[in-house]
Amino acid sequence: MSQIDEIKNLINIEDLVGETVKLRRTGKNYIGFCPFHANTRTPSFVVFPESGTWRCFGQCAEGGDVFSYLMKRDNLDFQQALAVLAQRAGVKLESFTREDSSRKQTEESLHQLIEDSIAFYHNLLMQSPAGKTALAYLHGRGLQDETIRQFQLGYAPDSWNAVIDHLLSLNYSRTQLIDTGMASEQRDDKGDPVADGRIYDRFRNRVMIPIRNAAGKAIGFGARILDPNDVPKFLNSPQTVLFDKGATLFGFNFAKSAIRERSQAVIVEGYFDVITLHQAGFPNTVSSMGTAIGANQVKLLTRQSKNIVLALDADEAGANATLKGIEVLRDAIRQEGRLDADIRVTTIPEGKDPDEIALRDPAEWQSILDNAKPIVIFMMETAARGQDLQDAKVKSQIAATVLPLIEEVSETIEREVYRQQLADFLSIDARLLRFDDPNKRTVKRRSSRFTAPETSVVVPKEKAVMDSMTAVSRREVFILNYMFHFYPTPGSIAKIDRTLRQRRLAPISRKDFESSEMRQIADCYFDSLDQDENPDIFTYADQNLPESIRPLYETAILPKPVVEMTQDDIEKEMLRSIVLLRRSKNRDRIREAQALQNDDPAEQKNHAELTEIFGQLLLEKKKLDHLLEALEFGNKKNNDD
Ligand code: UTP
Ligand code: MN
Repeated sequence: MSQIDEIKNLINIEDLVGETVKLRRTGKNYIGFCPFHANTRTPSFVVFPESGTWRCFGQCAEGGDVFSYLMKRDNLDFQQALAVLAQRAGVKLESFTREDSSRKQTEESLHQLIEDSIAFYHNLLMQSPAGKTALAYLHGRGLQDETIRQFQLGYAPDSWNAVIDHLLSLNYSRTQLIDTGMASEQRDDKGDPVADGRIYDRFRNRVMIPIRNAAGKAIGFGARILDPNDVPKFLNSPQTVLFDKGATLFGFNFAKSAIRERSQAVIVEGYFDVITLHQAGFPNTVSSMGTAIGANQVKLLTRQSKNIVLALDADEAGANATLKGIEVLRDAIRQEGRLDADIRVTTIPEGKDPDEIALRDPAEWQSILDNAKPIVIFMMETAARGQDLQDAKVKSQIAATVLPLIEEVSETIEREVYRQQLADFLSIDARLLRFDDPNKRTVKRRSSRFTAPETSVVVPKEKAVMDSMTAVSRREVFILNYMFHFYPTPGSIAKIDRTLRQRRLAPISRKDFESSEMRQIADCYFDSLDQDENPDIFTYADQNLPESIRPLYETAILPKPVVEMTQDDIEKEMLRSIVLLRRSKNRDRIREAQALQNDDPAEQKNHAELTEIFGQLLLEKKKLDHLLEALEFGNKKNNDD
């Protein structure tokens, strides 16, 4: 649970509102006079303890949660309201901006330290006599100087103090050297560092491979032996504040744009595979650095492209890594039970590394990529390897392994094709292949022809964050996600607003987003449009979004939406989503307004006002229904011709 949710859970909204508003209980809810607009005769302000929300059904026609309430009441910004309510709830906020910026400064100098080490090693490689062997080794592996420069490869001399002396002379502290993993500490018998003991170079007599994060910042090194007798073959920087091996993909900073342009990401095992493949014209290649690929690494890739090729080594370790990798990839890209990415697996000739193939014949590498198998097929063949396909037990085992994968394929036709392929492969009737998962929920088929199923909302999500969301919040996320990624063209939003206005509906605005978190993100979007020089929305969000909203923003808004659509389709889909969002809210409003109706009839002096409220809500419902119907009809027409 996020800290924001935690606070929402701990603060009683009726207590907060009750501090300044006289509330009266009515059923499960409370009503009173709205503190935000001049009082009328009828109480129109309702507090809903169950959902922790409030709403004014009168003039304001606004609602929200504890944060938005306090922000409005005390004229605070989100961060201030968060601080007040956190204290009240007894929740210790994890990071404050001041601490944060000092942490960033500290990290900045550590990045710089590694950057200085990179330059040091690179110069030694290119210029010093000591680096000659290493340079010859790299040339011998087919690397050109231009590639060596691009990746800033280096040479760590066979010395205990070369890099530490250099770094100390640049005024870095002993602690910084240790914290970045450039220096190792002298240890006692138990393996604990000796206080103020000796420190020495971690990397000695190795080829140095700088590792950078997605933003291109230096975070560590991979270091390969030159002397075949040395161990380990690769020595990496330890886990540090900068370097998290499991969340890093080697080469990603160079590969990012190529992955997007080619709409394909290729994952290989080794550092040298990446370097050589980039040189050979495959700049969309990254490496998980030997370890099995992790969910955080997958996320980096799927933001750029949904087509992922696993090109791991042909040995047994590689095969296991492939199986593990497929698992992780599937988990990371599964949405509503379907995979929203295309994963393929290459078959690399036994005993060959990608770098050798690419060096010898780039066309061969290309054809290996072209022939990469979809995971369904790959798993089918893997499950069958060495098995007797005539054996009924074997058939049923293979079917049990492969059917769940087929079930996850998002395209219906593709799914059927795979089912047929599996049937052919097992020489059985395709009708026998039915996937029955007891846990699988049945998808409701709605009768109304213009009711969009909830399942049509596909949002990039981190499970934990999104699962706890209501359907309404998910829709808000969906819309914001699209707005951020597909609206560099203000013309589109104007077009949608025009349609809304023609139907006497309000244009898209901040008011469409009601949970405080989503509102902060929406505010950020609309504020950026108000800037003199329209800044890049992501840069703007980066600079202006409250720290506490970041986890949500990064998991739900920042990733690119999955579907490939034309601008025209996007506009239609957006409009439809807005209408659907408002319709669910309208439904909620009508339900909530009944809290007013159920109020003590004796005190209900002004029925006219209540009738007015319901009238407004029903009118809006009608307009939304009509628009939705028109949209669906338009779609149908388009499909027909
Ligand atoms: P490999 O042993 O397959 O090495 O490890 P390689 O990339 O083919 O290296 P060359 O071609 O012999 O130079 C694959 C990857 O696993 C990680 C490294 O990232 C390496 O590139 N690895 C391997 C380690 O981190 N430590 C090791 O000791 C070995
Ligand atoms: Mn290799």
